[in-house]
Order: sequence, then C-alpha cells, then structure tokens
Amino acid sequence: MDNLESILSENRVFSPSPEFSDRARIGSRAAFDALVAEAERDFEGFWARLAREFVTWDTPFTQTLDDSNAPFFKWFADGRLNVSVNCIDRHLPAKADKTAIIGESDDGTVTHISYQELHDRVAKFANALKAQGIEKGDRVVIYLPMIPDATVAMLACARIGAIHSVVFGGFSAEALRDRINDTEAKLVITADGNMRGGKKVTLKGQVDKALEHGCPSVETVIMLEHLGGVPTGTSSAKEMTWAEAVDGQPAECEPVMVEAEHPLFILYTSGSTGKPKGIVHSSGGYLVNAAMTCSWVFDLNDDDVYWCTADVGWITGHTYVTYGPLALGVTQVVFEGVPTYPDGGRFWDMVERHKVSVFYTAPTAIRALMKLGDEVPNKYDLSSLRLLGTVGEPINPEAWVWYHQVIGGGRCPITDTWWQTETGAHAIAPIPGAIDLVPGSCTLPLPGIMADVVDDHGKKVPTESGGNLVIKRPWPSMLRTIWGDDERFKRTYFPDNLPGYYLAGDSARRDQDGYIWIMGRIDDVINVSGHRLGTMEVESALVAHPDVAEAAVVGRPHDVKGESIVAFVVVKGDRPQGDAAEAMVKTLRDWVTEQIGPIAKPDDIRFGDNLPKTRSGKIMRRLLRGIAKGEPPEGDTSTLENPAILEQLMGND
Ligand code: WT7
Repeated sequence: MDNLESILSENRVFSPSPEFSDRARIGSRAAFDALVAEAERDFEGFWARLAREFVTWDTPFTQTLDDSNAPFFKWFADGRLNVSVNCIDRHLPAKADKTAIIGESDDGTVTHISYQELHDRVAKFANALKAQGIEKGDRVVIYLPMIPDATVAMLACARIGAIHSVVFGGFSAEALRDRINDTEAKLVITADGNMRGGKKVTLKGQVDKALEHGCPSVETVIMLEHLGGVPTGTSSAKEMTWAEAVDGQPAECEPVMVEAEHPLFILYTSGSTGKPKGIVHSSGGYLVNAAMTCSWVFDLNDDDVYWCTADVGWITGHTYVTYGPLALGVTQVVFEGVPTYPDGGRFWDMVERHKVSVFYTAPTAIRALMKLGDEVPNKYDLSSLRLLGTVGEPINPEAWVWYHQVIGGGRCPITDTWWQTETGAHAIAPIPGAIDLVPGSCTLPLPGIMADVVDDHGKKVPTESGGNLVIKRPWPSMLRTIWGDDERFKRTYFPDNLPGYYLAGDSARRDQDGYIWIMGRIDDVINVSGHRLGTMEVESALVAHPDVAEAAVVGRPHDVKGESIVAFVVVKGDRPQGDAAEAMVKTLRDWVTEQIGPIAKPDDIRFGDNLPKTRSGKIMRRLLRGIAKGEPPEGDTSTLENPAILEQLMGND
C-alpha cells in the first residue's frame, strides 16, 4: 500500500467503551483470552462445543476433526444437517413474524420479508427446482442482482442439497459460460435485468450469449421477471419465468438432510493463473464459522438491524448476507442499488430510515464517500449505529478515523475483518467488546484460528518482520478443495515448503502486541475496490484479442479503489501511436469488459515494441509496477535483456 507513512503516524489505540462492552457477547479481553486458551488446550473440544452451540444438527456428530487425509480435512463428518433449516425453520416457533430481510431497490421501494415468508418462498422455489429434476449434488448457477430473491434461490438450493454457484452479475457472458461449464450446472437462475444507479443492466441477455457459446450441461433456465420482461432465449435449454416455475408449488418442502461435508456451494475466485478457482465450501463446518463470527465479531443480537453492503456474488455476500445473519435469526437490509444514487447520501439515508445498528462495508466505499465531504453524512441521523465493520483490503488510517468519527460518531468500534473466499468466514478480526483497536490493523486471530507469520520454511519471523500469513491448523469453514482440481488445491494452499500450514497468499507482519498488519498479496493477484483479480486472468483476456501479441498487467496504488489495473501491451505489427493508440485503448478496454466484466477493465493501457524481460524470457513485473506508478526504474536492471524498452514504456520516447 502507498500509505505506510500514514500507518506509522496513526498509532492511537481505541479501547472498547464500557457501554459497548457491557452488552457485548464477548465483553472483555479476559473473556477473549479464555477462549484463546480453551482452543489451545482442547482444539477439537472447542470447535465441537461451538458447532453444537451455533448449529442445529439433525444427526449429531460424534467425530470433530478427521485429519487422516490432510490437507483434505473433514469436520463433524458423521453429523447431518440442513442449512436452510438452520437459517429459517428453527427460528419459526419464536420469530415467524420477525422481519428477516428489508429489501430496498434502486428506486427506493422497500419490502419487508418475515421469516415465515422467507420460509414459504424458499420452499416453493425449492419445489420448483425439484420439478425441474434438480437433486442433491446437482450444480445450479445463480446469476441474479443483489435482491432478496438471490438469497431465496441460494437457500432453496441448500434445502434440497443442490450445490449453488453464484456468479456476480457484473461478470460477462464469457466469464459466466466458463463458470457454468466448470461446474457443469444443470440449471441457471437469472433475472431479465435490474436497475443500478438509475441505469438498466441486462442479465438474461448475458445468459443467452453464454448458452449460445456452448453450455451443454444446462437443461433449464429460470428467469425472474424483475423488470417485467419475458424470456427470449434461443438455446436448446428449457426456459421459464420464476412465476411459472413456482406456480402451484406448495409452501412446504421437506428439507434434505446432508452430511456435514456435503458441498454447500462453489464460488469462483482469482488466483495466479488465468483460470479462476472454484472454491468448494462444506455445509456443516462452513455454517459453524459463519454463525459464530456473526455472533462474536458483529455481536449480532435479536434487536439489531444489520446491513452488509456486499453483493451475493462475492463470498462476503454468502457468509455475511445469506448464511451467517440468517443462521442467527436477525433482521438485515439487502440493497440493490449503489452508494451514490440518487446521491452520495444514499447509505446514510438508509441507515437513518432503517435504523441500522451494525454496518459492514469495504474501504473503497468509505474512501469514495469520504471524498464527498462530511456535510453529506452530517445531514442524517446515524445514532442507531453501534458497530461498524470493514473488509476486502487494508483500510488506511485516514479512512478508518473518518469512518469512526463522522459515521460512527466516535462511539462505534470498527472491526477490520481479514478473511478470504477460501477461509469462508472471518479469521483475523477484533472482537469489538474485547479488543483494543489500532487503525490499519485487523488485530488478532479469532480464538481457534491459529494464524501466524512465517518465512518460506515455516519458521516464525521476528516481530515487525514481514512474512507469509499462514494458518497452522485447519478450521471448520476452510475451503475443502478447488472444484475438479485437488492437485491445484494442494499445491496452492499447502505447498511443500511449509509444514502442513494453510498459505493465505498475503504477506503480513506482527507487531509487539501480536497484532497483525496485512501488507499485500504475495502472488500475482491485485485488489481493485476489494475485488480480487489475477493479473494473468486479465493478461489472458488481452492476448485473446486478435491484434494483441503479448500483455503484462500490474496493479497501481489508487486512492479510492486501493489498486487500479495498468496493462502493458505489445500489438501485432507496428506499435500504435496517437489516434491509433487511443482507438486501440478503447477497443481493448471494451474487449476486457466483454471477456471478464467491467471490474477488470484496465485504467491505463500502454503500448510497447516489447516488454522488459530477463534473458531467460521472464517479464520483470517489478519494473512495470514502478513504471506504472511513474517512478523511474530502481533496483537491479542488469538481468534485463532490452533496457531501452523502459524509456519507451515510461513514455519518454
Ligand atoms: C483477499 C481476499 C473476504 C471477503 C472479501 C475479499 C484481502 C480481505 C482484508 C482486510 C487487508 C484484506 C486480502 C485477502 N483482504 N480483507 N481486512 N485487510 N486485506 O475476499 O476476494 O477472497 O480476497 O482480500 O489480500 O487475501 P477475496
């Protein structure tokens, strides 16, 4: 990050207030330390206790951790459960009329869905899936906007043991097709489209395109008529509207009890190769950590109104919109729109109107809203807030302090949660009633998560030294594998040089208090607005264009997005200049949007006659990262085969 200086200058400690701690689930450092000690003393007993506390089992488990086939760990393997029962049915006796979801659309229309209504909608839709031949273990792709129906679709899959794979609505037809084909999904759930920031976004059209390009596994497409449209697909798949699919279906659906290890979902994320990885999560272990962290880290109680702004297309939307909060039976806000429409006060207006008490968002959103000035949030009554959270990337202390003072009125703790698609749930985060906060640090590992910072041989690094962030023992919500690629799973997360540790892919350091500071990725992954993208993924998209011979992509620090994408491109034929270069930039930006989605569109594209390479042909990304920032190349360039290219890429020639 570019803000090392401000990190160093902000060393204030923010201790939990007595008002917060007194009512918190874990209300003191001593209570926290006792949990850490319990997990160290009796690791399996600790997790077994939590698994019984947070999850309702249909068949209780007798075995906690099975590590006989490490790193393919199993948790609670002989237990059986249904995740939708845990998120809905078990609340019904006491909370049938309680609001589960407050849905707010882009244009401000608000709908309240009670737990009973959620139950009925999920049951009907689960029956509709069954009527289309979907059975336990079948894969269903969900390509929907951020609306309550997405949660209904996910829970309906869980109800019958189908494995969902949600694809973010901002991904292109090409990206969608790759995910459909990798999962061999039988059914796709989508919508005609939706509104974001007053603009119409089409989704069904992307599904049509994906299917035209070949998705042989898809038998059925169900389209939610969200904008009042009708399905118009031309593929061989059977098409129907959501209304047609649920028509006549009963509001009861016998849940399918699955083994704890049965996959609940597959979610794709970027890695260091061009091909995204299908991260597989379990049912039982996943739900344990999802519910436990909502209780401990978000301190959610029955009277909270909780709002996580993430889209269900990302892991945050899985764990902290669909599964965690509903497992605890709380009321939450689900918002379809964007923070800046109709104006930059939208989030704060919604906090006031819905009396949100726990609010969770990304540093990039905080930075963007901070830029609009304090007078925007100051217009609203934000006194309902009692806890704030962030996720996705390191938060710079300036944004942290603004969030704390201007949004939280100086009274709300901020929980900076470090975790990943792969960890399934929070792994390192301050428990807000117990832990002193230091802006910019995600503080301490949660009890039971044995995170540490080690060198390349697995040896703990000294205090304040950078190293690899690892988790030394398995935990219930860890990924189980990469869909269809056990070898890649092993190689990526449990490399031979580390003694059985989970390698997170981040670098970090620990300070003298044991607090963890995330420094950045160690692989070729960039983090744009809290979204993870592989540099190779963008490069593969670029070189797939007929005019591109070669491409290298790096991240450049960006004051709102965290990082932005810079691409260095060699075209076939002469290097384009002037108007031709401008036209080519536009072509390639559109091309990447089509191949992956708008989030992958490079901010800056530069053309060269070639790329800086070592004599053995390896692209020297370190130099490109410097050039992208406008800094003259520093460090060793002696292994460079073609030093003159640096001047050209810097634009000096
Ligand atoms: C990567 C995981 C987990 C949900 C959102 C992103 C970065 C995540 C933090 C944080 C510093 C963070 C890491 C991590 N990251 N949270 N609080 N502080 N960095 O999930 O797409 O799987 O990305 O996001 O680099 O490895 P993801």
